[in-house]
Amino acid sequence: MALELRDVDSGYGETQVLRGVSLKCGDGTITVMVGPNGAGKTTTLKTVNGLIRAWSGSIMFGGEDVTRLHAFERVERGMASCPEGRRLFPRLSTETNLRLGAYSKRARDSVDETLQDVYGMFPRLRERAEVRVGRLSGGEQQMVGIGRALMAKPSLVVLDEPSLGLAPKLIGEIFEKIVELKKRGLSVLLVEQNAFQALNIADYAYVLQEGRVVNEGPPSQLMDREELKKAYFSIE
Ligand SMILES: Nc1ncnc2c1ncn2[C@@H]1O[C@H](COP(=O)(O)OP(=O)(O)OP(=O)(O)O)[C@@H](O)[C@H]1O
Ligand SMILES: [Mg+2]
Repeated sequence: MALELRDVDSGYGETQVLRGVSLKCGDGTITVMVGPNGAGKTTTLKTVNGLIRAWSGSIMFGGEDVTRLHAFERVERGMASCPEGRRLFPRLSTETNLRLGAYSKRARDSVDETLQDVYGMFPRLRERAEVRVGRLSGGEQQMVGIGRALMAKPSLVVLDEPSLGLAPKLIGEIFEKIVELKKRGLSVLLVEQNAFQALNIADYAYVLQEGRVVNEGPPSQLMDREELKKAYFSIE
């Protein structure tokens, strides 16, 4: 198992957001979390990558209990994130942004090699290597965000709404890249508002509502449930 959350509570200050969240992400699989705005999806990912701490429960990563580890220690163990809104440095070039993803000891010694790998996966980024990220299109910026996560040489990639704000054609392209991550043997934990497309590429999915997992299963099962479609998914 790449990742397992067991009965995790967490939140901000005094405010509890997650209430007993348990989820698993199998090795080399795409696990999707969907749910309405404010459900706690981003909070789940922040608890996974260590940006906020779990109040209780445990987080296992690659068979190791990482619940008490700092974010950078999780990166060293092979967990990489592309956060909501990407958080790139708009005034720095594409290549500089990518290289910044390889700060961990794990990744430092093979930066050039990994960079070629990322350019292989995103040829468009090679063309844009010297361009400031602020001048790239939304789709290209999203690719930089994913590429930067890959620069950390992860075994698990955590993606928060990679399709946000993108034109439909680009959304398809981003989802194809996510499938490619899986083909390369990576495990992916993906949060998406774009539920329909996300479920199409998922091996397993969770529905989060008000900080709780209210449904889970293989996507085909979840998509069969009419009321779920209406309640949580933006399916017309
Ligand atoms: N930094 C913060 N401090 C306090 N409360 C926060 C903070 N970030 C989020 N929250 C609250 O936690 C709850 C869950 O937010 P979260 O961002 O995890 O939801 P989400 O499912 O990712 O929503 P969205 O689909 O809008 O991205 C919300 O009620 C939100 O107001
Ligand atoms: Mg969010």
